[in-house]
Amino acid sequence: MDKLSDCIINKNLSFVPVWFMRQAGRYLPEFREIRKNNQNFIKLCLNTKLVTEITLQPINRFNLDAAIIFSDILMIPYGLNQQVEFKKGYGPILDKPDLDKIINTNSIEFTKKMHPVYEAISDVKKKTKDKSVIGFVGAPWTLLVYMLNQKSPKKNFNLNNIIKDKLLIDKLLKKIEETICLHVDKQIEAGANVIQIFDSWAGLLPKNELNKYCYIPTLKIVDHIKTSKIPTICFPRGIGKNYLDFCSIVRPDCISIDYEIDPRWIKENLKEVPIQGGLDPKILLKDHESIKKEVENYLNIFSGHPYIFNLGHGVLPETKPETIKYITNLVRNKK
Ligand code: CP3
Repeated sequence: MDKLSDCIINKNLSFVPVWFMRQAGRYLPEFREIRKNNQNFIKLCLNTKLVTEITLQPINRFNLDAAIIFSDILMIPYGLNQQVEFKKGYGPILDKPDLDKIINTNSIEFTKKMHPVYEAISDVKKKTKDKSVIGFVGAPWTLLVYMLNQKSPKKNFNLNNIIKDKLLIDKLLKKIEETICLHVDKQIEAGANVIQIFDSWAGLLPKNELNKYCYIPTLKIVDHIKTSKIPTICFPRGIGKNYLDFCSIVRPDCISIDYEIDPRWIKENLKEVPIQGGLDPKILLKDHESIKKEVENYLNIFSGHPYIFNLGHGVLPETKPETIKYITNLVRNKK
């Protein structure tokens, strides 16, 4: 069995699996080299050969326990015929959502567009053998935010503007949920043995809206994945102590934590759920002594608990590749 599933399902405590969110990305010179010659990001995500190669770059360099397929959560809006572009130094830009066009995209058309992604998953699976192969999706709420806000909600986000048209939201959410389930099924069929759900913008929701937009839609996806017996890791970023409600309602197989939440509080309050991640990616820009202290802090807190080592968000582009090797060794050598 792959390492992540062994930790999550069997609660095997004899090792701590390690991988990094955004382990394939701009901090790696070999990724930047490919990216330089492939300016269109979506096109790159649909190039099976290059997706396989980029996915394996961090595995070849650091021998991590999991390969996460090189793709993007915004492949779903793209597959639903909403144009998506990535502007250098700005982030994603989506065109105005056309509800009819989105709703009328059928599953055959969607899976045909995504075929290169699924092919890359089977190639990665064949080339890695004992590694976990992680498929992923954005959570319904985070996809809804990008599709309606048409860009990152980092600046000037207005929640009421997004959720004011209830009829539109209901229709769009339903379509997004169905498409997420389809995309997950196809990734599992291609060989993914773990699924991660990224709810990067769950933290934008006030407590009284979390149930409607985060817990309930995510629960539908998690319950759907449970029918395939593949473990699901949920990453509802930025919800603070609501991790507790999230876990009791959604019941994910594993919960990935961000760097704002106190890991001690998590350990004391989430006794039943395997945990992943937590370390602040900015720590990786510090010296080895400081890094070691912080890595060991997480390892000590979660010793005796099923724990997957990871960060509390993606690897920053400024990170030295050698730091990833250093941390991987720390985790592997911890007694
Ligand atoms: O290694 C991996 O983790 C797999 C690849 C992966 C990417 N995106 C590649 C990528 C994964 C898992 C994602 C998920 C993703 N994409 C999320 C959820 C995780 C998170 O960061 O919160 C979100 C919100 C997105 C949407 C997205 N994609 C944004 C906002 C951006 C631009 C900002 C940025 O960090 O560059 C992207 C582009 C993107 N996706 C890049 C990569 C490697 C950078 C592309 C480049 O300019 O070279």
